[in-house]
Amino acid sequence: MNISIFGLGYVGCVSLGCLAQNGHSVVGVDVNPTKVRQINSGRATIVEQDIDSIIAVQHQLGRIRATTNFREAILSTDLSIIAVGTPSTTQGHLNLNYIMNVAEHLGDVLGEKAAINPNAFHVVALRSTVMPGTCEKIAAMIEDHSGLTANVDFAVVSNPEFLREGTAVYDYYHPPLTLIGTGSERAGAIVRTLYDELPAEVVVADIRTAEIMKYVNNTYHALKISFANEVGNICSALKIDSHQVMDIFCKDKQLNISNYYFKPGFAYGGSCLPKDLKGLQTLAHDLYLQVPLISSIHRTNEIQMQRAIAVLMNYSHRNVGFLGIGFKAGTDDLRNSPAVELAETLLGKGFALSICDNNVRTSELTGTNKEYIDKHIPHLSRLLVKDVQDLLQWADVVVVCTKEPEFAELLTGATDKVIIDLVRLPIDVDSSNQYIGINWSHEATVLQA
Ligand SMILES: NC(=O)c1ccc[n+]([C@@H]2O[C@H](COP(=O)([O-])OP(=O)(O)OC[C@H]3O[C@@H](n4cnc5c(N)ncnc54)[C@H](O)[C@@H]3O)[C@@H](O)[C@H]2O)c1
Repeated sequence: MNISIFGLGYVGCVSLGCLAQNGHSVVGVDVNPTKVRQINSGRATIVEQDIDSIIAVQHQLGRIRATTNFREAILSTDLSIIAVGTPSTTQGHLNLNYIMNVAEHLGDVLGEKAAINPNAFHVVALRSTVMPGTCEKIAAMIEDHSGLTANVDFAVVSNPEFLREGTAVYDYYHPPLTLIGTGSERAGAIVRTLYDELPAEVVVADIRTAEIMKYVNNTYHALKISFANEVGNICSALKIDSHQVMDIFCKDKQLNISNYYFKPGFAYGGSCLPKDLKGLQTLAHDLYLQVPLISSIHRTNEIQMQRAIAVLMNYSHRNVGFLGIGFKAGTDDLRNSPAVELAETLLGKGFALSICDNNVRTSELTGTNKEYIDKHIPHLSRLLVKDVQDLLQWADVVVVCTKEPEFAELLTGATDKVIIDLVRLPIDVDSSNQYIGINWSHEATVLQA
């Protein structure tokens, strides 16, 4: 394929060399004439292992060249990759000037290209890291300048780059995945062919999902490093080998290094997480150590509780039924259950509540958890109903607090309810219901109301 790449920095230079090595004919475009000269004399614009030889060989083979002439590069290619910088402004916002400058050129030239070849379909793949909504802005800019229609005459696709400096060429050929965010199947299929030789899974998502991924990934990477450092500081103060601790930590592939606990939902609770988190925090405090990351975790949990309360405050005069009151599905343990805290807060605000939880009901009957219930939450135990159908008939608003499979079945048949889902049940809700997920779908609109 004939490809133009805008921006010849780390991402652009590596893409230029590697795409050429995979057989494509690639022209690099940069506003910096020195970088253009470097490429045209067969030299890389960056210092990275292997990139010098790749650029030298591909230049010799005639597969790569560079220019400052946007028009010529766009007219002579079918796909344009944008890899210009997206620095932060002093306020932390993105400076999109470089990207929008490329978009303006693309708009001007694609209009001209369409006049020459009305059947041309130009794909723009945005490889720079950008906020959700940027591809739409680029498409709008191109439409304005060209008179063409996005996803018909051209398409802008999000195609984030996952390479790390220092191992950039290796990472290009061994990405964790290839992500394509697109609203055009045709454009998605074209971009996919760029990576045919790579061993990675290709994931196709909508554009905004693809755009946010780099921020989510990199924030998580920073979180991992900072978590390990705070653990390290505590361990070293106790003369414990922090590297051995983290080696052992990483051996747990079920709960630690896994997708477990990674789904947005309600606050955590139970008898262990809050207690042990507080324990580690206190240990650090007693060692005169600052652990702001670990110390802030509980605050995030409180915010999740407040979100649930904020959603429910919109229904204060309605009958509210809780499905589940334990701290998670499959247990009768009510200690530090966030659902208990939520129910108590709502009762304090005068809500009419009813609760159905078969695990808790069974334990109440058999007496296993009776002491805790009688001592700590007698006021809630009076609200427990036996038959979930009774609860469903009485309640206008149903709050799903635990992910019991029977709740999904039950709510699939429900009509005319407000369903507030804190756990994301796998359900297809009837359109007569109003469905609110605590941090997915349209709950944000409710919070703003
Ligand atoms: N560096 C990395 O490891 C890495 C990894 C993944 C993603 N990213 C993202 O990729 C993007 C590019 O990063 P980078 O490190 O390659 O940047 P860079 O600063 O190394 O290179 C950017 C290049 O764009 C050129 N440029 C600026 N305006 C231009 C224009 N209007 N037209 C053509 N060229 C123009 C600059 O002259 C420069 O050569 C950023 O959004 C970055 O966040 C970077």
